[in-house]
Amino acid sequence: MKLDELKKLKTQCLEWKNVKPWYDQLKQVLKIEKEHIKIELNDWVSIGEKDDLTPAEHELILQTAKTLIPWRKGPFNLFGLKIDSEWQSNIKYNLIRPYFDLKDKVVADIGCNNGYYMFRMLEDKPKRLIGFDPSPLTMLQFEFINHFIKSDIVYEKLGVEHLELYNHKFDFIFMLGVLYHRPDPVGTLKSLARGLNPAGEILIDTFMIDGEDEIALTPNSRYSKIPNIYFIPTIPALKNWLNRAGFTDIEILKTTVTTQEEQRKTDWSFEQSLEDFLDPNDSSKTVEGYPAPKRVYVKAKKS
Ligand SMILES: C[S@@+](CC[C@H](N)C(=O)[O-])C[C@H]1O[C@@H](n2cnc3c(N)ncnc32)[C@H](O)[C@@H]1O
Repeated sequence: MKLDELKKLKTQCLEWKNVKPWYDQLKQVLKIEKEHIKIELNDWVSIGEKDDLTPAEHELILQTAKTLIPWRKGPFNLFGLKIDSEWQSNIKYNLIRPYFDLKDKVVADIGCNNGYYMFRMLEDKPKRLIGFDPSPLTMLQFEFINHFIKSDIVYEKLGVEHLELYNHKFDFIFMLGVLYHRPDPVGTLKSLARGLNPAGEILIDTFMIDGEDEIALTPNSRYSKIPNIYFIPTIPALKNWLNRAGFTDIEILKTTVTTQEEQRKTDWSFEQSLEDFLDPNDSSKTVEGYPAPKRVYVKAKKS
């Protein structure tokens, strides 16, 4: 199927039975027009102030935000309504912030979710900013927020596997928290390499296990209660994957253990979060007995 046909099909999905109620709710919000509102792209992505809206508009914003639960990434403050997402994504953004400068670059965020990081990246004034994510719910969350921010970010309901078919290439590609969801991690990294301009760069993060051997953990079924986790490499294995996919100058930026400060239950998320995913008697293990989630952040150049 050609990319244009796929994009058309993906747009039609907004009228599908399970997605339509979210879309219909959002369409009401898209009628609210506000000019000259205050936008602050800080740890809380904040839009407008309480007095900018009528009581009826506040109610519509509240009902729409609730319809679009779960909010996994954020946080956002919409005219005083605090959407405290499951993940404090500001922690990841602040961790990677020292390692890029996007000024005048053509940038992609693959697996961009509701666009939280892209809103933060606007501070660098990239030439073009494009998010890829196949999830209709997160795209509607993005449209909800972006309706007021009015950025020219483009949100494509596409996956990393479509990157190499896209109508242009990128100078810088982020792919955060996606690699472990892919059954073919080297193929996925090759897709990133094919989506880059010469000398283009990537910044990714993935779950990792400790060790010097060039191996990866392959969970039996779930990992930390997540069903679609396929390969969790050691750092030497990850470097091999990147080399074999066509990357060089591989820089290990940081490793982190996920904390309950970063991922926790809130009124805006699912009923379970990190505290339910770890062994109650030993937080160094998941409920399945695997090493608890640890991430590695890596930057690399197209060779
Ligand atoms: C664990 S979340 C990571 C979100 C965000 N990048 C972060 O690091 O906080 C994984 C995201 O990848 C998206 N995703 C799922 N399949 C994908 C694919 N084939 N290509 C790109 N993204 C995908 C999901 O919808 C989800 O938003």
